[in-house]
Amino acid sequence: MAKTRIEHVCTDCGAAHPKWAGQCNSCGQWNTLVEEVALADVANIGPATAPACSIADIDPLVSQPVTTGLGELDRVLGGGLVPGSVTLLGGEPGIGKSTLLLQLLAAWPGKALYVTAEESAQQVRLRAERLDAVRPDLWLQAETALPHILASIDDVNPNFVVIDSIQTVHDPSLGSPPGSVVQVRGCAQQLVNVAKRTGVPIVLVGHVTKDGSLAGPRVLEHIVDTVLAFEGERHHALRLLRATKHRFGPTNELGLFEMAGHGLIGVPDPSKLFLGDRRTGVPGSAIAPTIEGQRPLVVEVQALTTPAPPNVPARRTTQGIDNNRLALLLAVLQQRARIPVQTQDVYASTVGGVRLVEPGLDLAICLAIVSAITDRPLPPDLVAFGEIGLGGEVRQVSNAPRRLSEAARLGFKRVIAPRNSPGPEGESLRMLRVTTLPEALAAAGLTG
Ligand SMILES: Nc1ncnc2c1ncn2[C@@H]1O[C@H](COP(=O)(O)OP(=O)(O)OP(=O)(O)O)[C@@H](O)[C@H]1O
Ligand SMILES: [Mg+2]
Ligand SMILES: [Zn+2]
Repeated sequence: MAKTRIEHVCTDCGAAHPKWAGQCNSCGQWNTLVEEVALADVANIGPATAPACSIADIDPLVSQPVTTGLGELDRVLGGGLVPGSVTLLGGEPGIGKSTLLLQLLAAWPGKALYVTAEESAQQVRLRAERLDAVRPDLWLQAETALPHILASIDDVNPNFVVIDSIQTVHDPSLGSPPGSVVQVRGCAQQLVNVAKRTGVPIVLVGHVTKDGSLAGPRVLEHIVDTVLAFEGERHHALRLLRATKHRFGPTNELGLFEMAGHGLIGVPDPSKLFLGDRRTGVPGSAIAPTIEGQRPLVVEVQALTTPAPPNVPARRTTQGIDNNRLALLLAVLQQRARIPVQTQDVYASTVGGVRLVEPGLDLAICLAIVSAITDRPLPPDLVAFGEIGLGGEVRQVSNAPRRLSEAARLGFKRVIAPRNSPGPEGESLRMLRVTTLPEALAAAGLTG
């Protein structure tokens, strides 16, 4: 390195700034800028991976996804891992990233290399025994220095590599400390080059930390082909896997797992899981047939309301539901349906630790709140879906037939739905079609 230039890099999004500032001017986060050696001075351009050639001469079959053996993961990836692709698996500490990947490595056909930069080989072996993942073709290396890792990839010659985690790997020639933006980006870039050159798929683990002490996965979004987010409530067994970026397929599929003693188990029938502990006849509970990707999920929404103390703003607390969405729905309930929610503290949540942002959930949230306020339970065989507009209208949402057939499959008999919604296929579900929120409340037996 002839000279090193210092710049200020955001640990959240990776944007470089010539001067220090309190706020990143790219992503708007506060206090995320740190001093680093400029990447331009340390990056080196390797040889071209392949010469230019006609697109007609390229064999598309080389990029067909390879099934991973984990059904829920394949679903999210649109079939499996594409040769030569680089996937980033992000998630909060302890959510189960290493567990998922060890199971993937165990199921992988052929020789696989697991680089553990965080745990000792003994720790991994212990976990592998618990997960029944011990097999001779699974190679293990406890190493943090990138040059050694690259050398082992050459030596072992695996057809699949996992790096756990990218934030703990470092390249001494890059200068910056491990976990810094320059290190994380520089190491990832070299691993991407290896994947493209050899056709070996690589998965990188990326920690999501709130305090900005490590460069976050967003720093790598542009470099990798696929970004997977592994989520869940720490105290629930349910884990959700979503693709937030995917160069080889759609990003809207949802994978569901349950954390058990011997590892993560796919959840093929999530609705059963969500409704498992449901108590009927209780005020404040409503059931909604929702859609995540192509997948119907029938979930319970719960609300609790208590009179707010005078002279303090009423509380609005949510779990699994967007806070702003709740605020909007409460305003509509107050103004368009004349339900006195302004003076109530409102708690609303989805059951089972699932986070939903789908507009089709709106109507069930409103029904649960009004059921809580009026202390009237909803009929046990009723579901409801629809988006609520600011005028109090109930709007159509996508995939109505899928929602209806899933509700029917689970034994529900009646559904409150937007007026123009397509009908159910069988006769088993009775449609209560509504145009406005007050009509929906009346159809549910909560008013009048
Ligand atoms: N013996 C065990 N029996 C059952 N579950 C376990 C056991 N040991 C660990 N777990 C579960 O596995 C989780 C940790 O999973 P894992 O180590 O894969 O997470 P991670 O995302 O890789 O975490 P980190 O960020 O620390 O690397 C724990 O939170 C716990 O739920
Ligand atoms: Mg781990
Ligand atoms: Zn930023």
